Amino acid sequence: MDSPAPLNASPADMPPRSPALPEPASAAQQGFIRHTAHSPEVVAVSPGRVNLIGEHTDYNAGLCLPIALTQVTAAAASARTDEVVRIWSLDIDRHAAVALADVGEGKPRGWAGYVAGTVWAMREAGIPVGGMDVVISSEVPVGAGLSSSAAIEGAVAMAAFALFGGSIDPDDDARRTLALACQRAENEVVGAPTGGLDQTTSLLARPGHALELDFRDGGVHHTPFDIAAHGLEVLVIDTRAHHSLADGQYGKRRAECEEAARLLGVETLREASQDQVEGLTDGVLRRRARHVVSEIARVEAAVAALEREDFAELGRLFDSSHASLRDDYEVSCPELDVACEAARGAGALGARMTGGGFGGSAIALIETSAREAVEAAVRSAFAEAGLGEPNLFVASPGAGARVVLTTAEPQ
Ligand code: GLA
Repeated sequence: MDSPAPLNASPADMPPRSPALPEPASAAQQGFIRHTAHSPEVVAVSPGRVNLIGEHTDYNAGLCLPIALTQVTAAAASARTDEVVRIWSLDIDRHAAVALADVGEGKPRGWAGYVAGTVWAMREAGIPVGGMDVVISSEVPVGAGLSSSAAIEGAVAMAAFALFGGSIDPDDDARRTLALACQRAENEVVGAPTGGLDQTTSLLARPGHALELDFRDGGVHHTPFDIAAHGLEVLVIDTRAHHSLADGQYGKRRAECEEAARLLGVETLREASQDQVEGLTDGVLRRRARHVVSEIARVEAAVAALEREDFAELGRLFDSSHASLRDDYEVSCPELDVACEAARGAGALGARMTGGGFGGSAIALIETSAREAVEAAVRSAFAEAGLGEPNLFVASPGAGARVVLTTAEPQ
């Protein structure tokens, strides 16, 4: 990884905007100087993600295949000598000051929980962190199912780790510890009962690679993802239908999976076979479990398809994943279905919702030469269905969380 650029410590000679810095990092750096009259000691960034396949499998000890986005959230930060986390969010123009002693289950409520909760969870994990001033700026759209929460958590974790004596370029083991702390913040402080997909991706991703994640044994395998060389790309269709993980439906699905596993006498649905699942008498639980078991098999098939460069098969797997999430898991919505159908109709090799569902984003595997046609088809299908304008962009596999500026010497 490149060494981060040094900062000028004095606010009097403000460091110039570096063209090499991601935009949110420059914004957070400048915002920090505005709000505190000092330069930040460190600026870290952490990406959003799209999950290529393997949805609602992480909390079932299953498999996922995400890529990080190049879009990031930045945290500019300096250590404080007290136990207070002061936070400014440039995106929502809000400020909060939270004593670490007051952080815990369900508190602080709202957006400050992502930041203060991460610092608290790191300390709970035995990482020596303390109070800090943090300015957040993000280019990952919120509520789009692209993991904006984990991007905030990852940026704060990397910044805090660097500030309090950890490495500015932690190894994968340290990154896993940070990812777990981020997940704990999300689960306990924010109150969203998510698995570890988002945080693991944000902390551990490598540019040009997808991550094969195995949530049974914690396995992380970096697999090259260079579909551009084959004239292909992943088009993200952010439907702008707002999605939230803390609103009950996500937790309900998770509880249904646990109940199905209990009835089948297995620890997690990862241990269940398709035949066993079909024997469940409760129709809802049967369909939920069927999705999970079949989706885990689809991740294995997708990895194999990628290895043999069979992109037509990868597209078919996208399609069947979407059908399973729509019909068996029931986490799609009209916007996501319209997006996928329109993309397929205009020649996409396959399309599926990505992330938690109930709104958010879909992805389509397309030929680069078909991009204009697919985009036009999606836009006109949205207009015809009376839906708002979607936000479309091409995803390229970006890097995981990293420190981009520091006053400290590299360790
Ligand atoms: C959200 C959660 C993840 C994962 C996905 C669904 O993104 O944060 O843990 O469960 O939904 O695959």
